[in-house]
Amino acid sequence: MSEFPAADELLSIAIPVAREAAATARRMRAEAITDVQTKSTRTDVVTAADRAVERQVVVALRTIRPYDGVLGEEYGEYTAGPGAVRWILDPIDGTVNYLYGLPAYAVSLAAEVDGVVLAGVVINAATGDEWTATRGGGAWRGGRRLRCSNRTDLSQVLLGTGFGYDAKRRAHQGAVLAQLITRVRDIRRIGVASLDLCSVGEGLLDAYYEKGLNPWDHAAGGLVAAEAGAVVGGLEGAPPGLDMVVAAPPAIFGPLHDALVELDAAGGA
Ligand code: IPD
Ligand code: CA
Repeated sequence: MSEFPAADELLSIAIPVAREAAATARRMRAEAITDVQTKSTRTDVVTAADRAVERQVVVALRTIRPYDGVLGEEYGEYTAGPGAVRWILDPIDGTVNYLYGLPAYAVSLAAEVDGVVLAGVVINAATGDEWTATRGGGAWRGGRRLRCSNRTDLSQVLLGTGFGYDAKRRAHQGAVLAQLITRVRDIRRIGVASLDLCSVGEGLLDAYYEKGLNPWDHAAGGLVAAEAGAVVGGLEGAPPGLDMVVAAPPAIFGPLHDALVELDAAGGA
């Protein structure tokens, strides 16, 4: 018998923890943004709220399930043994939107066992919109089961993407995008990878790709997209990861994948 709880049990732990985290992020923004510091580059910011929300989630998870691991964006990893649950957290995905007050920033929380994401929740803290998924149990928003778009023609695709914080990486990403934009309906850059992936699950975007995402950016949203019928992967058969995350309806994944390979989208800095 497995020693970890079923996917729906993990989701039922994740949802209230993520809701309280979203409430903290929203409240801290309303009160004032404090202690804005930079991380990898001068435009990669972290606020007191990113750190406070992560600490709150870690404390909540460790109170409920003390032997699990947690991988969070701001404080790194509390390791757990093999076969244990690992929670993957972005306390605020879309920190630049948060800083400016654009109403798209999210708490993203997933539960993974042995490298397989079993449950995930993404909450847009600014609006309260919530997406959930369990492996094999579908993707949901507000009691509605989600299906990704049924688009079949790349030239009709509304395509989401994002950019890293490093200028050299951005230069390459911009060059790839300059080519791709002529082959699709249009491009969106929402600034929140987890919401981009949930948007693919809901059909608000047809497809999405980005190089340089970390597990906390794509674990929960990737499960939402996949459970809504999208293909979520990397390039040339690789799993989604730092080199590339692509999420697209089955008929679009191949043509988009091939265009990304042709344009060397996983290359550059
Ligand atoms: C970023 C956002 C953005 C994506 C970046 C991420 P952060 O996360 O998801 O949309 O393009 O690659 O780093 O820094 O706001 O948590
Ligand atoms: Ca973040």
